[in-house]
Amino acid sequence: MKNILVTGGAGFIGSHVVRRLVSNYPEYHIVNLDVLTYAGNLANLRDIENRSNYTFVRADITDANAMQELFAKYQFEGVIHLAAESHVDRSISNPMEFIMTNIVGTVVLLNAARECWKGNMEGKRFYHVSTDEVYGSLGETGYFTEETRYDPHSPYSSSKASSDHLVRAYHDTYGLPIVISNCSNNYGSFQFPEKLIPLAINNIRQGKNIPVYGKGENIRDWLFVEDHAVAIDVIYHYGKNGDTYNVGGHNEWKNIDLIHLLCKIMDRKLDRPEGTSVGLITYVKDRAGHDLRYAIDSGKLQRELGWKPSLQFEEGLEKTVDWYLANQKWMDEVTSGDYKNYYERQYQLR
Ligand code: NAD
Ligand code: TYD
Repeated sequence: MKNILVTGGAGFIGSHVVRRLVSNYPEYHIVNLDVLTYAGNLANLRDIENRSNYTFVRADITDANAMQELFAKYQFEGVIHLAAESHVDRSISNPMEFIMTNIVGTVVLLNAARECWKGNMEGKRFYHVSTDEVYGSLGETGYFTEETRYDPHSPYSSSKASSDHLVRAYHDTYGLPIVISNCSNNYGSFQFPEKLIPLAINNIRQGKNIPVYGKGENIRDWLFVEDHAVAIDVIYHYGKNGDTYNVGGHNEWKNIDLIHLLCKIMDRKLDRPEGTSVGLITYVKDRAGHDLRYAIDSGKLQRELGWKPSLQFEEGLEKTVDWYLANQKWMDEVTSGDYKNYYERQYQLR
């Protein structure tokens, strides 16, 4: 069996990646390494946690000794690195955690892989999962391609940009076999309700205000998380050594239009008269340094590796709403405890 390390596998995207690999590749032993921050949740993997080709390890990617020991023990053939601090608003109020996990943690993993693979890099691969936010903000037209100059604005996107550069540097300097992908905004099941879509679903269900930053005119390119997991599978297996692939949904939505669509779906699902939830929309103080528009050109990934998104947004959003409504217990658990403090800090003053 090949040992593959997935970092951040108890988080939103990581849990979908782990589930896919454990289910589709019985010849792989998937080691899920996660420190379980507020965003990490083993309940995201209940359905596969007893599979014989799956092991969970709780550890911090910034702990160099622990990472070296783990690599020595399992002699990983590949690494799919998703562990990160991932929320822009948190990076604005607490940048240091982002520097530690996203930059230092990535270098610690690169060092551990380099040490473990020295002398024989054949068949090895370090896959760094990153974001389109490294490219900065677009005006009304144009797309991010793999050649777009990096121009990050938030502590989150700057820390991810920095980690991308370091991964490339380890390829160029030490010959580490790497691949990177930069993906647009994901949505779907198991997303922590600090991000726009699950936060809005949860608030609408409870009849609470839906906070919309600024005028709601910012644009994001939304991709269903299971389509991202397929892209990660394809890129891990077939991506060219040293290359970068952009992943996106070709699915741009103004925040306010997205919220209107969500309100309509929620009114229908909750048997409320149409128009009820729209009344919850509340414009609040804008995010500092708020990027106006993200839009990905994923042509390279389509042409070279044959990947494209499988779902239309309306269909994906319906599925997502159904999942959150059917998994109220999951939502109640993740929003108990510290979430309330976070919510108050984040939204009370806006
Ligand atoms: P998430 O916040 O849901 O999950 C992150 C996971 O990493 C959590 O399980 C957390 O416990 C773990 N983690 C954090 N710090 C750690 C540490 N020091 N050591 C070990 N584990 C640690 O994030 P996500 O939305 O699933 O994003 C996963 C990756 O994909 C990130 O690298 C992110 O930058 C990238 N990405 C996310 C999106 C998106 O829309 N969510 C889009 C593109 C790229
Ligand atoms: P988010 O889900 O935080 O993703 P990102 O900032 O990484 O794109 O936010 C998506 C968009 O929604 C972004 O333009 C900010 C906006 N937003 C709100 O208007 N209200 C909110 O409460 C949140 C969390 C986000």
